[in-house]
Amino acid sequence: MWQKEMEIARLAAQEAGKILHSHFGQKNRVQKKGDIDLVTEADIQSEQKILEIIARPFPNDSILSEETGEHQHLPSRVWLIDPLDGTTNFAHAFPFFGVSIALEVEGQVVLGIVYNPCVNEWFEAVQGRGASLNRQEIRVSNTKNLMESLLATGFPYDVHENPDGVVARFKTMLTHSQGVRRPGSAALDLCYVACGRVDGYWEERLYPWDTAAGLVIVKEAGGKVTDYTGTAYTPYSKTILASNGLIHQDMMKALSEA
Ligand code: IPD
Ligand code: CA
Ligand code: CA
Repeated sequence: MWQKEMEIARLAAQEAGKILHSHFGQKNRVQKKGDIDLVTEADIQSEQKILEIIARPFPNDSILSEETGEHQHLPSRVWLIDPLDGTTNFAHAFPFFGVSIALEVEGQVVLGIVYNPCVNEWFEAVQGRGASLNRQEIRVSNTKNLMESLLATGFPYDVHENPDGVVARFKTMLTHSQGVRRPGSAALDLCYVACGRVDGYWEERLYPWDTAAGLVIVKEAGGKVTDYTGTAYTPYSKTILASNGLIHQDMMKALSEA
């Protein structure tokens, strides 16, 4: 199932990764979409390459991608694409970013790939077929206690204007866990939950292209993904809470107390 789609998504991620690699650490022209929301030439070129590769074999599929928005064709098949997740890291030559590609069919994310070209790590999942890192099966951690958990989060681009809720939730999670990281790529943060490098992750005001691939990867690795209130997550939800399942209730409780 989805073999051809997977092959094309892999090819697109690989070619995009080459582009990101070639620009990494160079003096890239950086434009601002908002006060702290950046876009580089690498974002644009990576996206062009992915769209080109996907549209060739699947001309009727719809695409929702970060830099060029919606390309609407068949409403039942939508590719959700982030050509460079972690642009702020990238622009500062901080080596933690990835390419995220997912396919949603009839409202279900059926496959996802997140590729980190810095360390050549491929996270992949197909619905019902498990999740893998560089072709080895991955599972979420088995940490049961929030106090023994390592967590990850991220901050939305309007945090300068609306810091209060985000900072309150950060403070609560910091004092209820062993540690909190802010790696800087939502797609990879989700993959880190999937392979057990972190036990849980939360963030708000993300977009479908940030989380779609990571969503299926976490679920297929045995994890749980909801919004802050416990409702099943879709890439269009406003908040995301992903975990190994075992600390989910405690994370939800802590977030609601903030
Ligand atoms: C961002 C990253 C970051 C998250 C931001 C996202 P971008 O995506 O995933 O970790 O905190 O909210 O927008 O802009 O680098 O593609
Ligand atoms: Ca992103
Ligand atoms: Ca991006």
